[in-house]
Amino acid sequence: MLKEKIGFIGAGRMGSALIRSVLEKRLVSSKSLWVCDKIPEKLSSFSERGVNTSVKIKPMIKGVDIIFIAVKPQDISEVLENLKNKIRSSQLIVSIVAGITTSYIRQKLSLEIPVVRVMPNSPALMGEGISAISPSGGTNEENVRTVKEILGAAGEIIEVPEELQDAVTGLSGSGPAYIYTLLEGLVEGGIKVGLSKEVASRLAIQTTLGAAKMAKESGISLDELRRAVVSPGGTTSEGLRVLEKGGFKSCLAQAVIRGTERARELRR
Ligand SMILES: NC(=O)c1ccc[n+]([C@@H]2O[C@H](COP(=O)([O-])OP(=O)(O)OC[C@H]3O[C@@H](n4cnc5c(N)ncnc54)[C@H](OP(=O)(O)O)[C@@H]3O)[C@@H](O)[C@H]2O)c1
Repeated sequence: MLKEKIGFIGAGRMGSALIRSVLEKRLVSSKSLWVCDKIPEKLSSFSERGVNTSVKIKPMIKGVDIIFIAVKPQDISEVLENLKNKIRSSQLIVSIVAGITTSYIRQKLSLEIPVVRVMPNSPALMGEGISAISPSGGTNEENVRTVKEILGAAGEIIEVPEELQDAVTGLSGSGPAYIYTLLEGLVEGGIKVGLSKEVASRLAIQTTLGAAKMAKESGISLDELRRAVVSPGGTTSEGLRVLEKGGFKSCLAQAVIRGTERARELRR
């Protein structure tokens, strides 16, 4: 168990996924957790589990060592205004707010406080996410280790320089939506060739999961894995020809590039 007390500001989709994984993996006791959200209904399931809850930020500030900020980008200035002059430099801030830099947070708080920026993704809800973390200058090794342990409860961790966070947003932040689109295409094709929606969905989902597991665990390159499925003049080579003609691969790459650009635009 961690010795730190942890507070979350924002118990929306991503905040509550992280809180639940912290509770499920028993990283801290419910008494060492604080959850704060403007909407009281979002707090009830946590208070039932013995977690400290509040609709206001102020009551939780003093009692926690680490503060996770999990609000939408348009709400962060109000949150920082609430924290200003109340937060201490010995506390640690972890922000999952898309596009918001660690220097912006430190500047708004007028405090040399350690800040870690994180970009998680939605499979964190199932403990299968991946979070890219970027510690700011003021963080020490223990801060980083603790953040990795907390986020590790919701999936994998990767450390990247902060200037690459927009690129991470474009790939793994938005990526689940691209995978669902890919699945929809496979299911649509399956239905067109006579499968029921249920059967086509099961085949498409398990094929995607299995292929991802092969890519992750076999140690074989993507190109080699693909070639192992293709026989000359066979079915897969015909299908791949269709994908190539439609620009499938470069279209996916363009989506990542455009998403990254959009993250930059939104920050400005
Ligand atoms: N969802 C994802 O897949 C994903 C992936 C990566 C990163 N993120 C990042 O995670 C952050 C949260 O996203 P989300 O999808 O979880 O958003 P969300 O569902 O809108 O949750 C944010 C919650 O924070 C509350 N809130 C806003 N201002 C507050 C304040 N001053 N004090 C207390 N609570 C406050 C909101 O209440 P109101 O609704 O009343 O404003 C809402 O309940 C975003 O910055 C997003 O970029 C999300």
